[in-house]
Amino acid sequence: QSLEPIHGSLSGKKVIVTAGGTREPLDPVRYLTNHSSGKMGFAVAAAAKQAGADVTLIAANPFISAPNGVHVINIETANELLKAVEAQFVHADILVMAAAVADYRPATVSDKKIKKTTDNETMTLKLVRNPDILKEISSIKKPGQVVVGFAAETNDLISNAQKKIKSKNLDLIVANDVSQAGIGFNADDNQVTFLFADGRKDKTPVESKKQVAAKLVEIISKEIQK
Ligand code: CTP
Ligand code: CA
Repeated sequence: QSLEPIHGSLSGKKVIVTAGGTREPLDPVRYLTNHSSGKMGFAVAAAAKQAGADVTLIAANPFISAPNGVHVINIETANELLKAVEAQFVHADILVMAAAVADYRPATVSDKKIKKTTDNETMTLKLVRNPDILKEISSIKKPGQVVVGFAAETNDLISNAQKKIKSKNLDLIVANDVSQAGIGFNADDNQVTFLFADGRKDKTPVESKKQVAAKLVEIISKEIQK
């Protein structure tokens, strides 16, 4: 695997990266999920490791294998992700939430396979809200800890992402437009805008997720020195 050069160091820093998409079970054979592959978060974990950090990767059902030299915690659901992030964050300097978290989960999980019925042509699922992990983290965040979110949007990218910086108390959000084919979900390339809490904006060209990850790690290494 080729490495992108990284300008900046995270030596001595403990970094938590979440990646992949949560799975919300419906019954023993079915679940709700999304198109996240884990590629972006895994690239961030690899770049942080390359920059000298002690990296813990909390992985939600990734399609690819984890980079070498990082600690991996595998979870499935949003609730499991919340527990793992809370346990790790207390010892961390930096949290990067690249995971695509299901906003809702089935209200009940059947312990037996749900059968179709001959008299019903339609079926309605009742869903309940999952916890917002970044909001929970914002209430335990200490001065000096850096928290980075991702925002995948199909419309009003910048204004939607700016609202999330405020509502989730983030230092930085990585916003990307997922309405275009070839970038974003499950692609090798990405094109993002880094949006800072102080209003600064930095738009990248279409490039590999590894290149985006290298830039993100450089930005974080500058933020953590402030
Ligand atoms: N996120 C989270 N907990 C959730 C949902 C999202 O911590 N329950 C995190 C994601 O990991 C990401 C950021 O919040 O870093 C933004 O996720 P996104 O889905 O874009 O935002 P939501 O707040 O869920 O808003 P919506 O999906 O309605 O746009
Ligand atoms: Ca969401």
